[in-house]
Amino acid sequence: ESTIHTKWAGTQVAFFEETDSTNNEIRRLAEQGAPHGTLAVAERQLGGKGRRGRVWTSPAGVGIWMSMLLRPQIDPMAASMLTLVMALSTRRGIEKATGLKSEIKWPNDLVLNKKKICGILTEMSTELMEIQYVIPGTGINVNQMEFPDDIKATATSLRIESGKIQKRSEIIAAIMEAFEGYYDTFIETQDMSGLIEEYNANLVNLGNEVCVLDPAGEYRGVSEGINKEGALLVRLSDGTLKEIISGEVSVRGV
Ligand code: BTN
Repeated sequence: ESTIHTKWAGTQVAFFEETDSTNNEIRRLAEQGAPHGTLAVAERQLGGKGRRGRVWTSPAGVGIWMSMLLRPQIDPMAASMLTLVMALSTRRGIEKATGLKSEIKWPNDLVLNKKKICGILTEMSTELMEIQYVIPGTGINVNQMEFPDDIKATATSLRIESGKIQKRSEIIAAIMEAFEGYYDTFIETQDMSGLIEEYNANLVNLGNEVCVLDPAGEYRGVSEGINKEGALLVRLSDGTLKEIISGEVSVRGV
């Protein structure tokens, strides 16, 4: 096991051989008063949750299935940006631990050679317009050699892309170290202004034609990166700039 050299991020780790979902474990721990920075890690999830109600396949031993407890004192509107902060940290941590340079697919997927290696599902609890806690849950495909039929065209693992078995504990430690720094930067302004440059520099969609689906319809345009609110800026063919708000849309085609 590698040691996590942080002040608070991941200094307390709850480990589960098997659980429904580490997001649920963190919710339970949060309700019992667990501190900011607590991390839940599972070997296997039986009810791994993806975004938009999808299932997240979480087999034993081959992935990083982890969730973090955050207790930020920020506006609930700003909290969804913590998902972007986690995406940035995960990208950096993976690179530091393995040398693999993944790219961010807005808002919070990581891709390697255009295939998905990581997804993040953030859940939160608010009371009287105040944040009680935020739970970014991160799934990383690390040592899988194959994927179920329904996702094998679009998913890959660090092992498949590098040809090497990767150490999960080192990746987790590197993510926690990166997260602590990025989180502080985020909290100073409670927006992405200090992180935009690094986020956009690693964005797979940047300058690409993207197709955005949101409740209001479908847009095609060129991605110009995020703004300080974490919205994706898309230049439509008529020249107007559209702000796509995180969580409302899916971006097709990396
Ligand atoms: C997505 O891309 O749809 C998000 C996937 C998030 C998966 C992680 S695995 C750890 C945590 N626990 C869950 O049930 N989901 C997240």
